[in-house]
Amino acid sequence: MKFARRTDWELTPNKISGILEDLKAKGKTVLDLTESNPTRCGLAYPQKELLSALSQDANMLYSPSTKGLLSSREAVAAYYAQKNMKVSSEQIFLTASTSEAYSFLFRLLADPGENILFPAPSYPLFDFLVDLNDLERGFYPLEYADRWMVDFEGVEDNINEKTKALVTVNPNNPTGSYIKKDELAVLNRICKARQCALISDEVFFDYALEGRADVVSFADNQENLTFTMGGLSKTLGLPQMKLSWTIVSGPKDVVKDAINRLEVIADTYLSVNTPVQNALASWLNLRPGIQKMIMDRVRINRDELTKKFASESLLHTEGGWYAIVKLADGIDEENLVEELLIKDHVYVHPGYFFNFNEEPYLILSLLPSPEIFSEGVNRIIKRLGCRQEPSL
Ligand SMILES: Cc1ncc(COP(=O)(O)O)c(C=O)c1O
Repeated sequence: MKFARRTDWELTPNKISGILEDLKAKGKTVLDLTESNPTRCGLAYPQKELLSALSQDANMLYSPSTKGLLSSREAVAAYYAQKNMKVSSEQIFLTASTSEAYSFLFRLLADPGENILFPAPSYPLFDFLVDLNDLERGFYPLEYADRWMVDFEGVEDNINEKTKALVTVNPNNPTGSYIKKDELAVLNRICKARQCALISDEVFFDYALEGRADVVSFADNQENLTFTMGGLSKTLGLPQMKLSWTIVSGPKDVVKDAINRLEVIADTYLSVNTPVQNALASWLNLRPGIQKMIMDRVRINRDELTKKFASESLLHTEGGWYAIVKLADGIDEENLVEELLIKDHVYVHPGYFFNFNEEPYLILSLLPSPEIFSEGVNRIIKRLGCRQEPSL
């Protein structure tokens, strides 16, 4: 059978997956410091309240709406109102996941062969989303100088007449860097001049580690056609519930056009299930408690890293669920990650997995239980043979 060329992926498991499978087959316990699925990290969710919201008589009625049920979109609008942002339910589209929303937006904005610009480093799922929509990926660099920043020269160098959208991940995974107000102003100017839309993935927006006043959500950006995404997988740590939202903002006419076309795309799938939409408003009321629980976990593990690594090894992060450890020059990332797995049974991501443009880095999820995290970090430090004094 000749399958579509877009599915010509390298499907043999990579070396790391092979090692992981082998360890599993041998019954070894691996300390997984890549775990970023919050439902697997021993967090104490308000289970009773979450589940009881799914048991409603209204769930017996199928009354689909292309953008998602009005009451659910109003709940999303209320979430933004709590953050002092004016978003109308008419601007909101619900999808089953952020990944699905990306696909809808790529379908809306770009023809085959055109391109979307992504930050580097960032989250690796984009590669498949681009392939599946017959698009090309371009990258613009983020640079690190005590904190991560958008490299605007890099944006100008990489944007071209075929670029239909520029994606920001705000805060970015794994750099944890937010877009600042002055950065948004420059992005608006660059994108407006080229009729290029902005897509801001804000799934981690609520997880700020510091209270900076200059960070900005794109949800009420009016300067350019803008799509701002959020969702339950991170906002409430509930990836299994499969519900995300996209807010369309910008100049009135283009927003109206975009909404009309997106409605047809969304109507073709109607992918968000009714019980989850009906539960959304009461689930969002649980946001403060759930986010505190996750932030407490992130801070405990982050503190452990600051105690154990020298301050120059631990890159500054403004938010999100990840930490970046910069290793001594000359260490081969891939070898180290394999060695940690085979000899120490600790699983971490190498920087190249997130498209870092230089080596060597390790990326750690800050969600695992503190016992697992601390033991994993001890083993990494022992392997590196460089026990470092606390930087305090
Ligand atoms: C930045 C970012 N966006 C989106 C997603 C996927 O979210 P969803 O589960 O809504 O598809 C992830 C998952 O880790 C992510 O890191």
